[in-house]
Amino acid sequence: RSARFTLDPAFAVGDVDPRLFGSFVEHLGRCVYTGIHEPGHPSADEAGLRTDVLDLIRELGVTAVRYPGGNFVSGYKWEDSVGPVDERPRRLDLAWHSTETNRFGLSEYIAFLRKIGPQAEPMMALNLGTRGVEEALELQEYANHPAGTALSDLRAAHGDKNPFGIRMWCLGNEMDGPWQTGHKTAEEYGRLAAETARAMRQIDPDVELVACGSSGQSMATFAEWEATVLAETYDLVDQISLHAYYEETDGDRDSFLASAVDMESFIENVVATCDHVGARLKSKKKINLSFDEWNVWYQSRPHPEIEENLRDWPEAPRLLEDNYTVTDAVVVGSLLIALLRHADRVAVACLAQLVNVIAPILTEPGGPAWRQTTFFPFAQASRHGRGQVLDVRVESPAHGTRKFGEVPLLHATAVRADDGSVTVFAVNRSQSEPLPLEVALHRIELTTVVEHSALADPDPDARNTLADPERVTPHGVTGTALQDGTLNAVLEPLSWNVIRLG
Ligand code: AHR
Repeated sequence: RSARFTLDPAFAVGDVDPRLFGSFVEHLGRCVYTGIHEPGHPSADEAGLRTDVLDLIRELGVTAVRYPGGNFVSGYKWEDSVGPVDERPRRLDLAWHSTETNRFGLSEYIAFLRKIGPQAEPMMALNLGTRGVEEALELQEYANHPAGTALSDLRAAHGDKNPFGIRMWCLGNEMDGPWQTGHKTAEEYGRLAAETARAMRQIDPDVELVACGSSGQSMATFAEWEATVLAETYDLVDQISLHAYYEETDGDRDSFLASAVDMESFIENVVATCDHVGARLKSKKKINLSFDEWNVWYQSRPHPEIEENLRDWPEAPRLLEDNYTVTDAVVVGSLLIALLRHADRVAVACLAQLVNVIAPILTEPGGPAWRQTTFFPFAQASRHGRGQVLDVRVESPAHGTRKFGEVPLLHATAVRADDGSVTVFAVNRSQSEPLPLEVALHRIELTTVVEHSALADPDPDARNTLADPERVTPHGVTGTALQDGTLNAVLEPLSWNVIRLG
């Protein structure tokens, strides 16, 4: 019972856009406050940014960072978040029933990205819930216009002489969701998104714009929503968004481990819908995908902190601080594989979120920051998943799952770097059986296994905690061999694997 596939550079899916390794910072819980920003913390720099967290973010290899929401953005007034910090208003955040102090705002976000490094690109979400075209244009002028207008001069007066150069903008967030402040029908949102996009392109035709798709494939309006929104916006936007969160329910781990089956079908269904609208419009343009929220998220578990502690509108409460297991990390790895397998159409993807809130990095106020189990597959994929994705069609033993029927035990992709080296990313979905893997290399002259790293553990529920922050880390695997153009490896049960060939 082994699995196999063939790699041939003639059969490529497409180039990986570095923004596939994006993430997301929302004003939610402790993502911003005591997550990335904590003046007074022993590691804080002059701007109050936690340098211990910045170091981990760099190691994680994050590129685009979506901000400031999420549901939060649908009540966001950008003007509150600029200018002298002590004069900024405190506001009710309706999305998360918290008090927003605005001590971290637009300028601090840009400074944070610059400290991560040149690979970090802004991805600014606009409030199309309670606001509209005018406020979007004002924010664009404040952020991007060089000088000589009221708003660009105001930015300079606030201490930011240089424009922020925000190229990517999300036209709202999850506007299909009834929970969204200012929720709209597809027709209402499609018109507003089109008007906003048209006006923003009058300032700068080169902005990159993301229209809101469905907040999940299971939404009753899914696909019809995309078709209606794109009918209005097709020529005006570059991408449409997808959001998906997965969790284990009813102890059904086999289905959970197959979550990428859902993610891949979601991607393929949205691509089909985009292309259907394009065909109807007789357009040569292709709309790409921005999978700008994805992760494991235990939404259906009780969250007493939400129900009980939010009555008094707290500041930066502990919310959605899921502590991930080895199993969760293997699923995150598989979701990364799903994104890479569709690199021809997925231009941007954001792991939601970056710190504390369903995040790969956890912190304690005044205390340490550490890597969750899910940190590792993301960091490894971001580091080694750059180049051209090769088409991988697996022959694999399969097993039955309650949610997805028969599912192959092997989930895999491969990326060929510019120097010709190849990295195979593979997940063994079996909870109990090792999976022998054979990969035939056609017209790929590689001879060495540079590394086989695996994330697996005798305890699939093991996690990294404050008390034991390095309980789970990837380990090296011996015995993996490349001979006469054939790679042979054994994938441990319930494992994420990175096999680098040179
Ligand atoms: O990432 C958490 C929340 O999930 C976001 O605010 C929202 O967009 C989505 O529903």
